[in-house]
Order: sequence, then structure tokens, then C-alpha cells
Amino acid sequence: MPYLSPEQVEFYHKNGFLLIEDFWGEGVVETLKNRIESIVSTADLTNVKTVFSTKEQARRSDEYFLTSGREIRFFWEEKAWTADQQLIDAPINCINKIGHGLHDLDSEFEKVSYDARIGAICRDLGQQKPQPVQSMYIFKQPKIGGEVCAHQDGTFLYTEPQTCIGFWWPLHDCTKENGCLWAVPGSHFDGVRRRFRRVAPEIMATEFEPKEPVVWSLDGAVPLETKKGTLVIIHTALVHYSAENSSANPRHAYSIHVVDGREGVVYPADNWLQRPVEHPFREIEEGAADM
Ligand code: FE2
Repeated sequence: MPYLSPEQVEFYHKNGFLLIEDFWGEGVVETLKNRIESIVSTADLTNVKTVFSTKEQARRSDEYFLTSGREIRFFWEEKAWTADQQLIDAPINCINKIGHGLHDLDSEFEKVSYDARIGAICRDLGQQKPQPVQSMYIFKQPKIGGEVCAHQDGTFLYTEPQTCIGFWWPLHDCTKENGCLWAVPGSHFDGVRRRFRRVAPEIMATEFEPKEPVVWSLDGAVPLETKKGTLVIIHTALVHYSAENSSANPRHAYSIHVVDGREGVVYPADNWLQRPVEHPFREIEEGAADM
């Protein structure tokens, strides 16, 4: 049963993104924020040192990152550390993101990630067997929340042919001051221009192909100033980014990426994100959830 109207499908194909306001009510937003607080407060972070950065020179692909596909792992803000390797604040105020298996390992995140409405949207947009491959809880902390440089999601979640669709929900109202998303409408027509992958399957090292950075044209970029609970749907080749959070307000978001598992679509063994063989990707079942 379709979820999107023909006009919404047309908007997505023309622009490379689509906004659906009030996709989640206040109750879901608060539940997820409370859940993440509880996850952080009970986690043992003593030996967690990995920082997450989208700046190419600083991007590190250690084993903790590369084996996080079906784990709940914690990645710090670059600016959360002092010169003598101390956190500047309590962990909940220093984390950049948590990933990449919340959707399979935590019941609250599982409920929203396998929502039948998401499966219906994926099918409306051309997928046949929608499978979430990763989830992220992104903090964008006040004052220290780092920028996410311009990129295409298909660089990181690559299939042949490309099928990835991104779903992104703010859990606070987003403004230009607290680091809302920006998108370049129509940029998806140029296709995915670069891949981030393991140097070989099973190897704990990554590379970009081609190696040279892409110089993105951000002409015409528009800010997506969204209310909490809005759904932003992102095409695999859409050029998008977000600035630092220069405000005193938090800007949390939850995001999942869904690929098509239909016959004929290949999820390469050298994608950075892999699952243990005993836990293959799961399809979002068709259902009669609150459509
Ligand atoms: Fe993205």
C-alpha cells in the first residue's frame, strides 16, 4: 500500500530529498532522547577513544569503527578532548554519534526503524526489499558539535546498482544556528562520484576511490530548517552537509540508511560496513502499521 502521494514521489525524484512534517509525534521524540541517555549512562566508556570526523584528513577507520555494523558504539567529538587526553565534560555532552546497530539491538530504536511506513516509502521510491543497513544517533553538541562536510551517502553505503535511501529525523528543532541540514536540490542527477571502502574485504583499513577529493558545487544549496519529528528522506546521490553547531542549544538527530536487498543488487564485500554472517540484514516487512 503506497504511503507517499504522487506529488511527493515527484518532488523526491526532482530534488533528491523530501520532507514530511510530524512524522513522529512528541512522544516518540522524547522516548528516543530518554533512551539514548539511558544507553550512555549505563555504558562502560573507559576504553573508548575513537573520534568521529568527516574531514578527510582526520577520518580514522580503526577496528572499533569498522566492526560497528551490528554494535552500539560511541564516537567522540573532536573538540571534546583536552591536550592531555581528558574529556572536557560528562560523556553525554561529548559524544559525536552512536552507531551503527541501534536499529537491531535496542527495542525502541528497532520499533521506529522497522516501521511499516518506512518500508512503504522505500517501495514507493523503487525498492523491492528494503533493508536497514545502519543507524546513527547524532548529537551535534552545543558549541562543539562539528560540521559534516558535503557528501553523498552512496559514497559510504554503496550498492550495485545504487539503491540507498537515507532517513533522518531531528529530535530538536533545527535552525541555521544549531547546524541544520543543507541540501543542493537536483545534485543527485550527477550520480555518486566517489566510494569509501575497505582496501580489501576483511581488511581493517579504508580508502577513497578515486583518491582525489571531489570539489562540490554548493550553488543553490538550501537550509532544511525542520521541526523535531519531521522526516527528511535523502537520495543516495544528493549532495548535503551541515555546519557546526555554534549555538548553545543541542541538535540531536536519528538516522537510518536502507538499501534494496532484491535479487540482482550487490552489497559489496569491500563496503566499510559489514555484518557478521550470523546476523544478515533484515527486510522491513509490509504491514498495516499506522499508515
Ligand atoms: Fe549524509
